Amino acid sequence: CGIVGYIGDKAPKTILYNGLAKLEYRGYDSAGIAIIEDNKIELNKAIGKLDSLGEILNKKYIQGNIGIGHTRWATHGKPTVLNAHPHLDCNKELALVHNGIIENYRELKDELIKKGHKFVSETDTEVIVHLIEEYYTGDLFGAVKKAVKYLEGAYALGVISLREQDKIIAARKGSPLVIGLGENENMIASDIPAVLEHTKKVIFLDDGELAILTKEKVVITDLKGNEKIKEITEIDWSIEMAEKNGYDHFMLKEIYEQPRVVEDTLRGKITDSSVKLDGINLTKEDLEKIEKINIVACGTSYHAGLVGKYLIEQNLRIPTEVDVASEFRYKDPILSEKNLVIVISQSGETADTLAGLREAKKKGAKVIGIINVVGSTITRESDGTIYTNAGPEIGVASTKAFVSQLTALYLFLLYFGEERNILSLEKRKYIVDGLKKLPEMIAEVLKRDNEILKASEEFKGVNSLMFIGRNINYPIALEGALKLKEISYIHAEGYPAGELKHGPIALIEEEVPTVAIAVKSDTYDKVISNIQEIKARSGKIIAVATDGDEKIKEHADIILRIHEVDEIFSPILTVLPLQLLAYHISNKRGLDVDKPRNLAKSVTVE
Ligand code: G6P
Repeated sequence: CGIVGYIGDKAPKTILYNGLAKLEYRGYDSAGIAIIEDNKIELNKAIGKLDSLGEILNKKYIQGNIGIGHTRWATHGKPTVLNAHPHLDCNKELALVHNGIIENYRELKDELIKKGHKFVSETDTEVIVHLIEEYYTGDLFGAVKKAVKYLEGAYALGVISLREQDKIIAARKGSPLVIGLGENENMIASDIPAVLEHTKKVIFLDDGELAILTKEKVVITDLKGNEKIKEITEIDWSIEMAEKNGYDHFMLKEIYEQPRVVEDTLRGKITDSSVKLDGINLTKEDLEKIEKINIVACGTSYHAGLVGKYLIEQNLRIPTEVDVASEFRYKDPILSEKNLVIVISQSGETADTLAGLREAKKKGAKVIGIINVVGSTITRESDGTIYTNAGPEIGVASTKAFVSQLTALYLFLLYFGEERNILSLEKRKYIVDGLKKLPEMIAEVLKRDNEILKASEEFKGVNSLMFIGRNINYPIALEGALKLKEISYIHAEGYPAGELKHGPIALIEEEVPTVAIAVKSDTYDKVISNIQEIKARSGKIIAVATDGDEKIKEHADIILRIHEVDEIFSPILTVLPLQLLAYHISNKRGLDVDKPRNLAKSVTVE
């Protein structure tokens, strides 16, 4: 979910709405806005994407100078108007927006019902506003401070009251919240883009902090109400960086940004043969202790982690385990100071990944983040961050962030290889040279988009697709399948090419095509054999192959080409046609590429 709040000289309606538009990537099941006007709370909500709320708001003239808004990704209760935020108390004098999950909401709700509170929604959130009401005697800050003590789970909150129209109270535990500092106006939001139009100065609220925002100032306190001095961060993104720049969709724009993204991720961090990672605060002794690496992430970032395992094990010979974050936390992972945990997250806020990081730290492991968003929770809690510098990624299906995460993993490889004397100077030079050539090679592959567009025409109508790859390109098969599922709703499965014959080959028939990553590598011939197994069952083949490979023509129905490149770098190139294929298929099916159903870009609940 995304939350936003405004207090200041201006009328909040448009400011809140535009703020929510920037947060829509966090969920778009329903949205709502509450503004105090003429001594009453003017509440508007709608289900579906933000436009539906926009239509309602367009017909209304609302003034006021304080308000809160919310865009929802449903957890408790269906996307209905009643379940949409903001939620009100019984007296309709308090309004509240919430991002997170209250785990003990059932118990709290039962108690509050006994005390006479009437609930109208199925959400966990509504208990918070009733709990605040229970303690409210005219001091909103005091009431919120008391109420949050009883909340188990995660929350970022924004609360306003009719009785105190000069303040917004905010609180945070486990879900992100930034405060935007303006001139005679202040804002709260789940993420930076929502305040960027108004200010570049922000404070990141930490867990266990409350904030009192008035028009003139912002006071941050701990849970006891003691004032805290917080650092103010200047954001260096421009608004344009978060806009579409003439592309039809954010996803397409972000795919085409990838040559620049790789350059930016490398910028200032490499010399001829080594890397400089200022953001990592590990000593030589810390590094000497490391016997094992664990990578923890979700979704696309997890796939980057899987590529990382191949890179690290094959080049550094350090055992590396990769876990989906939601599993890692609860499997009681075996960790000590001998483990280095790498958490990978575009947003730096994914709740599952954050929980994994905390579990790792609790057990004494050192943690490095590969993160895109500067100042995000994960970066603040890690022992160091390799920033991916991809710029804001808006399309829900991650593309440029993935490629930047892979780039950061090569940087890690060089760093660890040098610090621990594992990689020779020659090898490091070779990797640095290869990295420098990547932006141009990516740009070249993207120029071949026409071929991919043609392929998408042929396959846009299928109901199921397989993706296969081997070795370091097996995770790319998983990523290709994920991209397609996410935005085209076509069933897709990624498999290690050699594993297909052990089960999934039963699915192959004429109508179930396979995308085979068959680039020049040590396993090329093996992949060709796997392709033949599919052809023998009438399956069509779309091959991702290397320039100059003539043999592939005998086996594939459609060929998407990439440059010849050392296998170690190939994932950065092989993923490109798969991103574009998913994009075009989704577009041709008339779907909402940037905001696929049921998903959210940043999931800050476990
Ligand atoms: C969500 C998104 C995915 C993303 C995953 C991890 O589920 O829909 O596209 O890969 O979160 O996000 P992160 O910000 O941690 O990389």
